[in-house]
Amino acid sequence: MVKVFFVEASGKRREVDAAEGDPLMYAARDAGVAGIIAECGGSAMCATCHCYVVEAPEGSLPEPRMDEADTIEFNAHEPRENSRLTCQIIATPALEGAVFQVATGRD
Ligand code: FES
Repeated sequence: MVKVFFVEASGKRREVDAAEGDPLMYAARDAGVAGIIAECGGSAMCATCHCYVVEAPEGSLPEPRMDEADTIEFNAHEPRENSRLTCQIIATPALEGAVFQVATGRD
C-alpha cells in the first residue's frame, strides 16, 4: 500500500492507502474523499477526480499524458499548473506521503 493524503474542500485532511499499481482515484473514491466523484470511471474524460498537487517527492509524478492534459484544460474547474487527474496517477512507492488538494467546483 502507498499512503497518500487528500485535503478536502473543507480543509479536512484524509489519509488514504492506495494499492500499488492502481490509480489514486480508486483509493480516494473508495475512502469517500469528498469531491472525488469519478463520473467517467477513470477514463480521463470527466475531470471529477481533479486535484492539485500540494506535495510530492521529486520525480514521483510523471508528466500528464496528452489526454489528461486536454481534459484538465477543457473540463476541469479552475485548472492550475499543479492540476492532475487522480485517475491517471498510478500509486507507486515513490508517492508515499504525497499530498493532494481536492479541486472544488463540482459536487
Ligand atoms: S475519473 Fe473521470 S477524469 Fe478521472
